[in-house]
Amino acid sequence: MRLCVNIDHFATLREARGGLEPDPVTAAQICELHGAEGIVCHLREDRRHINDRDLRLLREMVKTKLDLEMAITDEILQIAVETLPELVTFVPEKRKELTTEAGLDVVKEAEKVAGAVRMMHQHDIEVSLFVDPVDAQIEAAAESEADVIEIHTGEFANARSEEEMLEQLERIKKAAAYARTLGLGVNAGHGLNYANMKYIRGIREIEEVSIGHALVARAIFVGLPKAVEDMVAAVR
Ligand code: PXP
Repeated sequence: MRLCVNIDHFATLREARGGLEPDPVTAAQICELHGAEGIVCHLREDRRHINDRDLRLLREMVKTKLDLEMAITDEILQIAVETLPELVTFVPEKRKELTTEAGLDVVKEAEKVAGAVRMMHQHDIEVSLFVDPVDAQIEAAAESEADVIEIHTGEFANARSEEEMLEQLERIKKAAAYARTLGLGVNAGHGLNYANMKYIRGIREIEEVSIGHALVARAIFVGLPKAVEDMVAAVR
């Protein structure tokens, strides 16, 4: 299982003052130096954290793998084609949300998703779809010809009892196995942290996890190198 670090929160902190620090591009380099195998950033339509300059520099600096999280809009699709990340992850996006709240509704938006997947494939960019662990969504993802799904682990991470957590874990396991039978690669993300990774890392089908908030929160106290190294250990 590979650790990909979502660096959006470094940019959120920078934007809190509207200045230059902390620089998410520097953060990406430190993450890679300390064992991250990919860097994830979300270029939102309102540019509330990562901006166009960050993405341009990240494309130049990231040596492992750049995963651009994005909504399916004409503007951001065009930027993806110009930037050529190794992977794009399509997510739903709402202006008022604090973070992505749910998976993409691939069933409802089948045509739009398939068109966007085709466009990315024409430029040799792999596509991941962020979906809830629901069979119909996984089937629709396979039909759209996406390469990978990222299973939304938010409900698992936010479970309020052990019973609910184990129920959600079971859903994730089944979804991961089902996606593999349909030929999809499997990633996972949202709300994963140093404590709950022990449940996720045992799921063989999951190749990559995308982790942001917990890692940045720990970095404030112990420093970014140690926060990344601790998460690499938790993932393995
Ligand atoms: N995966 C996706 C699709 C996301 O939108 C996010 C949040 O930006 C993450 C993973 C990382 O979630 P967290 O910050 O809770 O680790």
